[in-house]
Amino acid sequence: MAMPADTNAAGDIFGGWVLSQMDLAGGIAAGERASGRVVTISVDTMKFIRPVHVGDVLCVYCDIGAIGRSSMKIKIEAWARRHRFGHREKVTEAMFTFVAVDDDGRPRPVPGVN
Ligand SMILES: CC(C)(COP(=O)(O)OP(=O)(O)OC[C@H]1O[C@@H](n2cnc3c(N)ncnc32)[C@H](O)[C@@H]1OP(=O)(O)O)[C@@H](O)C(=O)NCCC(=O)NCCS
Repeated sequence: MAMPADTNAAGDIFGGWVLSQMDLAGGIAAGERASGRVVTISVDTMKFIRPVHVGDVLCVYCDIGAIGRSSMKIKIEAWARRHRFGHREKVTEAMFTFVAVDDDGRPRPVPGVN
């Protein structure tokens, strides 16, 4: 839930807070797919469509797309449920790329990819 501590001076939620929630969600999805540690390598075409307000519940959805040797492209959408129980509106979307890494932080193959 977006809280007062996450706002800018105008009272809107910081884009960086939204981005971090999306990064967390994408990291969970990528980590599941890669069965282990992953890191974010890039965030492309991020668009902030609508503002997020205090009291909105941020819902984040991940769709795993192309998988390379070690990389995974994940389309991530954030939707705000207005005032906790209200209607849902898409507020942000972006394409993230995560890389599966080993214990030393070096790229490793994503399991199950030829
Ligand atoms: C992720 C990391 C280990 C990759 O190291 P690297 O030496 O660039 O590795 P490689 O060149 O072998 O690339 C690894 C994969 O990333 C992909 N990649 C590289 N640069 C990319 C970019 N700008 N955007 C998308 N994918 C990219 C490569 O195509 C490759 O994919 P593939 O294995 O599926 O073919 C290294 O860049 C890193 O540690 N970055 C910091 C990650 C981090 O700390 N994230 C949090 C930021 S606070």
